[in-house]
Amino acid sequence: MQGMKKGLAQYGDAGFSLFLRKAFIKAMGYSDDALDRPIVGITDTYSAYNACHRNVPELIEAIKRGVMLAGGLPIEFPVISIHEAFSHPTSMFLRNLMAVAAEEMIRAQPMDAVVLIGGCDKTVPALLMAAASADVPAILTVTGPMITGSHKGERLGACTDCRRLWGKHRAGAIDGAEIEQINGQLAPGPGTCMVMGTASTMALCAEAMGMMLPGGAAIPAVHADRLRHGEATGARAVAMAKEGLRPTQVMTKPAVENALRVLQAIGGSTNGLVHLAAIAGRLGFDIDYAKFDRMGAETPVLVDLKPSGQHYMEDLHKAGGLGPILREIREQLDLDCLTVTGGSLGSTIPPAATWQQDVIRPVTDPIHKGGGLRMLYGNLAPNGAVIKQAAATPRLLKHTGRAVVFRSLADLAERIDDPALEVTADDVLVLQNAGPKGAPGMPEAGYLPIPKKLAAAGVADMVRLSDARMSGTAFGTIVLHISPECAEGGPLALVRDGDRIALDVAAGRIELLVDEATLAARRRDWAPPAHPARGYYRLYYDEVLQAEYGCDFDFLRKHPLRDARTKA
Ligand code: FES
Repeated sequence: MQGMKKGLAQYGDAGFSLFLRKAFIKAMGYSDDALDRPIVGITDTYSAYNACHRNVPELIEAIKRGVMLAGGLPIEFPVISIHEAFSHPTSMFLRNLMAVAAEEMIRAQPMDAVVLIGGCDKTVPALLMAAASADVPAILTVTGPMITGSHKGERLGACTDCRRLWGKHRAGAIDGAEIEQINGQLAPGPGTCMVMGTASTMALCAEAMGMMLPGGAAIPAVHADRLRHGEATGARAVAMAKEGLRPTQVMTKPAVENALRVLQAIGGSTNGLVHLAAIAGRLGFDIDYAKFDRMGAETPVLVDLKPSGQHYMEDLHKAGGLGPILREIREQLDLDCLTVTGGSLGSTIPPAATWQQDVIRPVTDPIHKGGGLRMLYGNLAPNGAVIKQAAATPRLLKHTGRAVVFRSLADLAERIDDPALEVTADDVLVLQNAGPKGAPGMPEAGYLPIPKKLAAAGVADMVRLSDARMSGTAFGTIVLHISPECAEGGPLALVRDGDRIALDVAAGRIELLVDEATLAARRRDWAPPAHPARGYYRLYYDEVLQAEYGCDFDFLRKHPLRDARTKA
């Protein structure tokens, strides 16, 4: 069934359902000729709260132009929009809601293909999760990164420089008036954060996975190429509608593994790992974390972008975008993976450039020899944790220190800058109850601020650990995604002030140096958080999975864990 005849509303009379549908769609002014064309739905993820999606309206126009030039009928429809700074308690709490909404609206409304417009951090994964489950021919484009701002001759970008300069302000090196000036320069236009944050990471991973036309991930939001990419995406969607090329044919296990490989090579956000795990779960498989670690050992960080390096996304675009990165690691990729072009990933890799650039390094001269991310295990993280080693302080990658524990985000906010806080630069800052259920939503609180008195004394980094996430734009020796989380009774909940914690990134270990009898006694005192009374929060609490499964809802996985446990 194609076009308007797809997925009729059920009145018990299919003929009447179609008759009624046509009556209403004709009220939009369409002709019979238009309604006979392949229908391409377009997810309108614009919101006046979401500056990262400020250019969605003009992007939709470009996509529609492409659809119509290729003989299709474009129909845009609203999908909720999520912006990082406008999502209480945190955008991750809402990612699955967006994924559910998008999946159901793609399935419920008649469309032969769909163009997904992602951008801000959680939107690309939510849309890809939806596409994987709905499995209607789908192609992604993104709003694109922002251009950089400037302050006193220095290039600035959200949000690595937001954090860096706010840290200087906390330490007293930048006064109130100057930080306000800087505030106006950090996000100077439409588009997503222009460092290697989660939005950039997921755009590049999605392109590597084959879900976006080549070159699309890095085109700045304000660049005319952005609109041409949109037009080409619309045209390609019409062809995909005719071919019936589905997301499950593109997002295969090897394609997801290509994305994981690229995640290492770009020094991508730790969030990328969570989102790819969620997408994998929708497709019916789980990430092999041992393999992911091996990828890190084999694949160095090649992209010299903040926060691990010095450049910004517009520089990556000028250097060729994803293509040259794929070319550098081509021997480590499965080049036969099918992409939305209808051809293989290998066929999208451009020939070597004849000009010099210094944003994408050759594998022989990487920015960081090991990959960007490293998995950690141990008695503190039986089911895993992750560290972005490329953005850590090398001397802290092997460190044993005394725990300074904060029981919650509120406790952290209340005490971190207390002059009476007993803390030294060699201590390990521990944040509890900030995981998927505990916070809720696993906020990006893993980047614990350096206590003010230490920051003022020049301390720039400390070992910090939590069951929270961290913005991809942040940097430091920060252990994240500790699983099981505190709210699930994970060992992180048993850490007390003064305990010794040993981190050894090279060995992939994170250990709590406390004897088992003491831990057992503490475990007896542990109680889970109160069950939420109602609403989406209750659904979220009951269904959200731990970080290693991407924090998706169990019932949205292709094979819910609950079903496997029931059978066992
Ligand atoms: Fe939207 Fe950073 S806040 S991408």
